[in-house]
Amino acid sequence: MSESFKLVVLASGTGTNLQAILDRLHGREGVEVVGVGSDRPGAKALERARAAGVETAVFPPAEYADRATRDAAMAEWIESRGADLVALAGYMQLLGGEFVARFRHRVINVHPALLPSFPGLDAIGQALEAGAEVTGVTVHFVDEGVDTGPVIVQREVAIPADRDRATLEEAVHAVEHELYPETIRMIARGMTS
Ligand code: GRF
Repeated sequence: MSESFKLVVLASGTGTNLQAILDRLHGREGVEVVGVGSDRPGAKALERARAAGVETAVFPPAEYADRATRDAAMAEWIESRGADLVALAGYMQLLGGEFVARFRHRVINVHPALLPSFPGLDAIGQALEAGAEVTGVTVHFVDEGVDTGPVIVQREVAIPADRDRATLEEAVHAVEHELYPETIRMIARGMTS
């Protein structure tokens, strides 16, 4: 049997995308989540990882002299886990150039808009504010910019006629929770076959 495809997830918040990855992908078809890292010790994502028996690590900005030092510690940990791919799932820190270069085309992110439209924070609010009729979800490689890396896949989400934010958020997250695990599965197949 071929070796498993190893995934590290980085998350800062509630971790619903992490949960979708754990539920839909972890331990199936040769894909294994080998670690969950966070900048926030209290992140709910870490609880989800522990509940699934996945190793966790925390890299709080306050404990490192600068971003490069923190990124380097995180990179060492990721490599020690033997990761083939790093998936950002609501990870709220910028990754420095050295980290990105070290893991070029091995770090992906999920973003709640059709990039290049609405990059950065509150992409759902930006789409509503701009009067858009359609938004969506993008999975892309991470480069040195903010949400600027090469797009891997996108899926549209219609903005509801009443433009209700909660309804739209729910629809976008439902698409994220399908599309992100699907995309990781696709990458894993490509890299392990
Ligand atoms: C998601 O909307 C994702 O697209 C964005 O951050 C959010 C994370 O949510 N990058 P969660 O922590 O996975 O619930």
